[in-house]
Amino acid sequence: MDETIPVLTIDGPSGSGKGTISRIVASRLGWHYLDSGALYRVVGHAAARDAADTSDPVAMAALAERTGIRFQTSGDAEPRVLVDGVDATDAIRTETAGAAASVIAAMPAVRQVLLDRQRAFRRPPGLVADGRDMGTVVFPDASCKAFLTASAEQRAQRRYKQLKEKGLSVSMDGLLREILARDARDAERAVAPLKPASDAVLIDTTDVPVERVVERVLALLPESLRL
Ligand code: DC
Repeated sequence: MDETIPVLTIDGPSGSGKGTISRIVASRLGWHYLDSGALYRVVGHAAARDAADTSDPVAMAALAERTGIRFQTSGDAEPRVLVDGVDATDAIRTETAGAAASVIAAMPAVRQVLLDRQRAFRRPPGLVADGRDMGTVVFPDASCKAFLTASAEQRAQRRYKQLKEKGLSVSMDGLLREILARDARDAERAVAPLKPASDAVLIDTTDVPVERVVERVLALLPESLRL
């Protein structure tokens, strides 16, 4: 891993706005973008596709190792995700894939396999890495670290809107319950739990417009990297 390549980590719980913010920030800087949650979602999706046992860490780690994952980026739009050559962009965004991802993400063997795959995204001129443990485990030496939060209600509302826009049918109550359950699972697991790095800057995005959050995140970078 080339530690001279700058990394900006943006961690936080589901619906905190990190995906939207990370993509805009990466596009403004002209840096690469890593959506690490998508990698866990891809494994969840591949498990459902292959009818594999999501409670078996050995099988899940093997699946994480052999599944072909490719992102196709264009500006600050959500990248298309190809799984073994097949477009799975929408399939990995379902709540089912998200819930499977969260279960699989608690397995150390799976996290170990995905560690190298995530670090490979660190390429010049820089990387914006979005996830749960970007600042704590994957890129502990990152130049700047942000940790985004928002109230559970607003996170559920954002998720609701996103899924509706994709034409997926969801219930607000179900989403809120799922978000709280996922938060608990992600925060309580033994390996790489969801928590801010000691040197991360906490940003509460509840009722804060996207552009304002983007400005605050960009302001974390030294001026020399913002140009
Ligand atoms: O950000 P997301 O909702 O797409 O992430 C899906 C799941 O993957 C989430 O429940 C936790 C897990 N995850 C993780 O454990 N570590 C990461 N760096 C990113 C996601």
